[in-house]
Amino acid sequence: MTITFDFLNRCDADAFIQALHGIYEHSPWIAARAAGGRPFASPAALKLALQQVVTGASEDEQLGLIRAHPELAGKAAVAGQLTKESTDEQARAGLGNCSEHEFAQLQALNAGYNRKFGFPFILAVKGPVGNGLGRSTIIDTFGRRLKNRRSDEIAENLRQIGRIAELRLNDLLGIRPDFGIEILARADSLAQWSDEEGALTCAYMTEAHHRVAAQLAQWMRDAGMQVAIDSVGNVVGRYLSDDPDAKTLMTGSHYDTVRNGGRYDGREGILLPIAAVRHLHERGEKLPFHLEVIGFAEEEGVRFQSIFLGSSAVAGVFDMALLERSDADGITMRTALQAAGHRVEDIPAIARKPSELLGFIEVHIEQGPVLLEHGLPVGVVTSIAGSSRYLLDLTGMASHAGTTPMAMRRDAAAAAAEIVLHVERRCSREPALVGTVGQLQVPNGSVNVVPGACRLSLDIRAADDAVREAAVADVLKEIEAICARRQIDFLLTPIVSAQAAPCAPWLMAQLEHAAARCGVPPFRLPSGAGHDAMMMAGITDIAMLFTRCGNGGISHNPLETMTADDADLSCRVFLEFLRGFQPKTM
Ligand code: GLV
Ligand code: MN
Ligand code: MN
Repeated sequence: MTITFDFLNRCDADAFIQALHGIYEHSPWIAARAAGGRPFASPAALKLALQQVVTGASEDEQLGLIRAHPELAGKAAVAGQLTKESTDEQARAGLGNCSEHEFAQLQALNAGYNRKFGFPFILAVKGPVGNGLGRSTIIDTFGRRLKNRRSDEIAENLRQIGRIAELRLNDLLGIRPDFGIEILARADSLAQWSDEEGALTCAYMTEAHHRVAAQLAQWMRDAGMQVAIDSVGNVVGRYLSDDPDAKTLMTGSHYDTVRNGGRYDGREGILLPIAAVRHLHERGEKLPFHLEVIGFAEEEGVRFQSIFLGSSAVAGVFDMALLERSDADGITMRTALQAAGHRVEDIPAIARKPSELLGFIEVHIEQGPVLLEHGLPVGVVTSIAGSSRYLLDLTGMASHAGTTPMAMRRDAAAAAAEIVLHVERRCSREPALVGTVGQLQVPNGSVNVVPGACRLSLDIRAADDAVREAAVADVLKEIEAICARRQIDFLLTPIVSAQAAPCAPWLMAQLEHAAARCGVPPFRLPSGAGHDAMMMAGITDIAMLFTRCGNGGISHNPLETMTADDADLSCRVFLEFLRGFQPKTM
């Protein structure tokens, strides 16, 4: 018999437990406890309810569930003693074709993991889309997680069990997260263009950047939008309403990346609205407002150390003086733009008129662990942290490493080290405050020379502007004191000062209602990362929808990941939001 979602909602509890017997390995108690929560609003709500039973269970029950799972490519797999589901999953991930070396690696990892934690390593080996992770990713993940703490691994194993259950439920109910599959496939496809071999780096106005822009423009056209690339490189698609006088709701995010970044940071927020518009267009469904989807050209500040180039132009605050700023090769932004055929004199005209706008919604991967730890696929952002960034050049005295007595040194790197530790100490004092020294160089340094110069960056953020400003003031005072004590000259160059941006309650409420209609409970969280929405807040009300970030919430890293199911659900929430959108009433 084919099992449908409708059947699961209507059948008696025994039939429900029986239908779900293969979803959690040898653990019918999970379906039994979830049965009373029926009817579920959506398959997403069913998945959440099952997983909440797991997270709400006693530690003994959780450990029992974890121990009910087989080792990866372990002895039971070799002896053919796995459940049918586990056999298929391990085969799909290629674990049946291990080389002798890989097999030996996996056995050693299994043994090491079991010895350290006392339970087996669990990984949803079918991966984010369901096609299989591949052996090298599995072995790398295994090695990484072996370094974790036991409590973190219990939580991670339970999350992986939840993901395995999700994939099994998809198979059982014939669910295909088509929007999510498309969004992830397109993010993979964009990642082929990079400034660096073997890493994803897409800096402003490089060849890779142009290729990505052209591809986004093509996908927007295919989805039924009118498309243009503006003079800072923003790719702008408009899905027009039948009412030419309608106002415009805006959405989008950035398509540049950090160095060696992830595939979804920024790009999800462009690809997801394109998928939503394509769906509307294919169904001939129009909206009572124009929808503008923007792929912002630059947000990360990699090439010219200036962030928000794309969104600041749309918000009408692009700083034309930046055109004279040079990259590491001495090429000015003006030259880079002109070489790409852009008319820099047209940049001021990019600014939108606030009176024509209904609001700005940005969809973005969370880039942190909050949703992951709460077991939720999406969340609504309350506010975006403000940030202060500086470059700091320290100048001491280069001198002989063998002959300069310790007391006579003017070591710029040692001063930098003190500054780094002070930033860490000061910013650890308050919960919603963070401080980072992400760049640290000893230019022309040698093994046998006391460092005469050191250059470092400083990034301090907080949800509360007063908290950030107080921390910045303290750090700058301490820099002065450290440099005075060590006889170091310093030059401080401010590069970013962005105020925190609160999200608009009326838009947040509409996003939450859209999520609820998709069967997801409302959940609010602040954003520690910066986003284009911060610039857009200068001209219209903003809101953000976050998608859960996998791999412990790692971002700005190639390990950044999300599942097709979470991307799919985010797209459905976004569509619900568009369909139910009500402009702000005065
Ligand atoms: C942008 O990704 C930032 O928050 O640095
Ligand atoms: Mn980023
Ligand atoms: Mn981003």
